[in-house]
Amino acid sequence: MATERLISPESRGPEEEAASQSLRPRSLAEFVGQRDLIERIGIAAAAARERGEPMEHVLLHGPPGLGKTTLAHVIAREMGARVHVTSGPALTRGSDLVGALTRLEPNDVLFIDEIHRLPPAVEEFIYPAMEDYRIDVAVDSGMHARTVSVTVKPFTLIGATTRAGLLTAPLRSRFGIAHHLKHYDAADLLTILERSAGLLGVGADGEALAQIAGRSRGTPRIANRLLRRVRDYAQVRGSGRIEPRVVDEALALEGVDGLGLDELDRAYLRVIGTTYRGGPVGLEAVAATMGEDAGALEGVVEPFLLQVGHLARTRRGRQLTGAGAAHIGVRLDGVRPAPADNAALFG
Ligand SMILES: Nc1ncnc2c1ncn2[C@@H]1O[C@H](COP(=O)(O)OP(=O)(O)OP(=O)(O)O)[C@@H](O)[C@H]1O
Ligand SMILES: [Mg+2]
Repeated sequence: MATERLISPESRGPEEEAASQSLRPRSLAEFVGQRDLIERIGIAAAAARERGEPMEHVLLHGPPGLGKTTLAHVIAREMGARVHVTSGPALTRGSDLVGALTRLEPNDVLFIDEIHRLPPAVEEFIYPAMEDYRIDVAVDSGMHARTVSVTVKPFTLIGATTRAGLLTAPLRSRFGIAHHLKHYDAADLLTILERSAGLLGVGADGEALAQIAGRSRGTPRIANRLLRRVRDYAQVRGSGRIEPRVVDEALALEGVDGLGLDELDRAYLRVIGTTYRGGPVGLEAVAATMGEDAGALEGVVEPFLLQVGHLARTRRGRQLTGAGAAHIGVRLDGVRPAPADNAALFG
């Protein structure tokens, strides 16, 4: 369910990655948004370059599609080094990590995606590597067991995760910079879309791009995906130019509304708003009514609705807010809104 949605923040796989490759910002200067992070990285990279050392290890966490992988490439470029990409689940044994580390040249970047899925046995190897550029390898076993220290070239580890809470404290503490990437505001998304339209060589009205930005759920990956979809529509059904009318028609066809909600989001809001008269109602009941899986609703539908304040999670269950009710055109007469603890969830 998650990956088929046009407004899903997750990558749709190799094809989409290939298509967006050319849209990736290459340098820190080109990177839009996340200003405090970019400033921290700019300073750390410049200082490290001056000392001829690798940059500090960086942990990037936050929702999918906000630029974690992109930043790893940008940092490597900033250091004049190469990036070696791997992931937590790909490093199944200590020897996998040894292999990855021994291939590095001085000041290279080792990017470990989904670092929360690093097996514990591999994590142990990573501590001395991060601290002293050394790996302790066990040779022989039984009576002759001993460890041999292998040195590796000074490098920067960049870890990325959407689930920072699952990282162990010892691993987390070994990163010099740890940063949570936030959703982008409409102005930053507009800048990204203007740049992308330019790179795709498609003419576009500012107003039309602002409309796409408003429907992109704060996520550059979604913005670029919607842009490609609108471009196709403009080419086949319009003059080729991206105009407000074309955006409306193209995204109406996909069921994406002005806020970036799709049919599944609206169905969820409608069930609470009409079947359960605004709630509060348990997630299981909503899921059963919709014929959907409760875990999937919680993972891929609720986060954005909570974030935009259309939904409240209360102790007694899910509740539609006034804004949520207004969005789907229902009135919640006589329903007393329960105090929401959304702020705690998205603080
Ligand atoms: N700041 C930005 N400026 C311009 N484009 C961006 C920016 N951040 C991300 N993008 C675009 O969004 C796409 C997704 O970014 P990226 O792959 O880096 O996200 P991610 O955080 O690694 O996602 P995931 O958690 O799914 O791995 C990229 O292909 C890139 O084109
Ligand atoms: Mg990524």
